[in-house]
Amino acid sequence: MRKTIVAGNWKMNGTSESIKTLLESLTSGVPAVEGLVTLVCPPAVYLSQVKQALSDAPIALGAQNVSSQPSGAFTGEWSLAMLQDLGCEYVILGHSERRSLFAESDEDVAEKVAATLSAGLIPILCVGETLTQRESGETLSLVAAQIDAVLQRVGIEGFASVVIAYEPVWAIGTGLTATPEQAQEVHAAIRAQLAECDADIADQLSILYGGSMNAGNAAELLAQRDIDGGLIGGASLKADEFLTICAAATESRK
Ligand code: PGA
Repeated sequence: MRKTIVAGNWKMNGTSESIKTLLESLTSGVPAVEGLVTLVCPPAVYLSQVKQALSDAPIALGAQNVSSQPSGAFTGEWSLAMLQDLGCEYVILGHSERRSLFAESDEDVAEKVAATLSAGLIPILCVGETLTQRESGETLSLVAAQIDAVLQRVGIEGFASVVIAYEPVWAIGTGLTATPEQAQEVHAAIRAQLAECDADIADQLSILYGGSMNAGNAAELLAQRDIDGGLIGGASLKADEFLTICAAATESRK
């Protein structure tokens, strides 16, 4: 059975103090459930602090980005070896904010996915369309192209260790959420695209939904057949919201 994954993407938010408070609630509240993976992705400068605070709680650690280069003169970047050193297991890659604000191309993202897989970490590959693309009927072809760029680089075998997050750009941080049906349509299309290469790999792949998922809408989204978890931004900064989403994810496995 596929894993259900609830990942908190804290983006560029928090202070040592606010993170300490948030983690006190999360470490005591996140349930240990067979098949459920919960993780938090703090800003890189806090990874060490978070790792220590997580101690033996059932919460994994993820980063929000990484360089595809192993080391050297890349001011402002960090490497996969550094993330490993800090106990990181997951890396969010190709988030729409990286693509739009930092000009990461499909090829850049594919390169990072390849490097992350080689290092033995798990990429959370983000894909999704803008509002204009949705309105002009390009959603499925755009998402398929974003996935295809990675497929070309790492092959279908790579997807045995990849997690995908479908995040419609128009739903990120806007309070607008894709309806369960809109999200399910895209999730099913992603799985079908990969099933053409390998049905087993496609079947075991976890595909998360992201974009204004919160305590109020999580259960309905997670009840969809091809929605295997969530990548949560704003709501992951509030312990009670995040824990409610974890509870909905637990329920969705029953
Ligand atoms: P949001 O962000 O939940 O605040 O919409 C999701 C994301 O960007 O990963």
